[in-house]
Amino acid sequence: MRILSGIQPSGTLHLGNYFGMMLPALELQEQGDAYYFIADYHSMTSLFDADARRKNSLDVALDFLACGLDPKRTVFFRQSDVPEVPELTWLLMTMTPMGLLERCHSFKDKSARGIPVNAGLFTYPVLMAADILIYDSNVVPVGQDQKQHVEVTRDIAIKFNEQYGETFVIPEPRIREATAKVPGVDGGKMSKSYGNTIDIFGEEKPLRKRIMGIVMDSRTPDEPKPDADQNLAVQLLRLVAPPDVAQDYEDRLRAGGLGYGDLKKKLFECYWACFEEPRKRRAELVQNLDHVHEVLRGGAERARAVATKVLDRAKRNCGLV
Ligand code: ADP
Ligand code: TRP
Repeated sequence: MRILSGIQPSGTLHLGNYFGMMLPALELQEQGDAYYFIADYHSMTSLFDADARRKNSLDVALDFLACGLDPKRTVFFRQSDVPEVPELTWLLMTMTPMGLLERCHSFKDKSARGIPVNAGLFTYPVLMAADILIYDSNVVPVGQDQKQHVEVTRDIAIKFNEQYGETFVIPEPRIREATAKVPGVDGGKMSKSYGNTIDIFGEEKPLRKRIMGIVMDSRTPDEPKPDADQNLAVQLLRLVAPPDVAQDYEDRLRAGGLGYGDLKKKLFECYWACFEEPRKRRAELVQNLDHVHEVLRGGAERARAVATKVLDRAKRNCGLV
């Protein structure tokens, strides 16, 4: 089984990215042949600061390695180190009906919010299709918001196969329902675009402040709270705390007697402990950036070896060679 996923270097990674995409992807490393990459070409559709892109790309690499990506087992690379991907994008573009792209939420949401949209943003799902198809990927672990893009990939691949004969493997999205949509500190979907994130790695003080600043209702601590399972801090606690601890706090909130302040304090404590080991590993990696660059170089080589074969197959089948 070949597993593939990517993440854009468009900002600092947060708990939504971690529980929605990174953790499921890291666990899948054990079950197959994993290809994970930093989607730097994708980030060009919405980030226009060259230094920020360079810094974010390195940060994503550090974050992924610190969180347990095993570069011996998993092929880890930068998207732009595989120039076969934009070449395949062109082939796929000609098999992509305009209407398919017009229906994509990511594009529709951004244009609805008044963000100026460029052609790259509009055609972004085709670039993503090339990412997926060029490695003969079977399974694509992503959060809920990327599901539609994997479906677009399937449609394009099926159309290409029908037109030019069997060329691409048809991939499947793999979404972990329990963490498909991690809430942010305002209760909406956690996203860097909404300023409601809790970063995986960051300074202790501002993160503590952000968690302690989660707004709760005005019920007194003593009041029983039958809706304890809906409480935002409880939902986040379930992600970062051992299950018995999260259950205990939920039960105490339901029964009455637990104040919101104490609940949030526990949330911060468990969140901080959850990433303690990765934080240490990340600090070590920062001291050894040559190793990180070496991992990405090696990953690019391994990725290209597959990409050139699949691109060649596609070019042959559509009569370019
Ligand atoms: P953001 O919404 O912060 O811009 P991205 O779109 O870069 O995040 O998402 C990177 C990966 O993380 C994708 O696979 C996406 O589905 C997943 N992801 C992002 N936010 C969440 C969330 N709140 N819950 C679950 N998964 C998420
Ligand atoms: N579009 C994805 C995101 O914003 C990143 C991405 C690019 C990706 N190519 C991919 C994810 C291929 C999975 C497979 O999060």
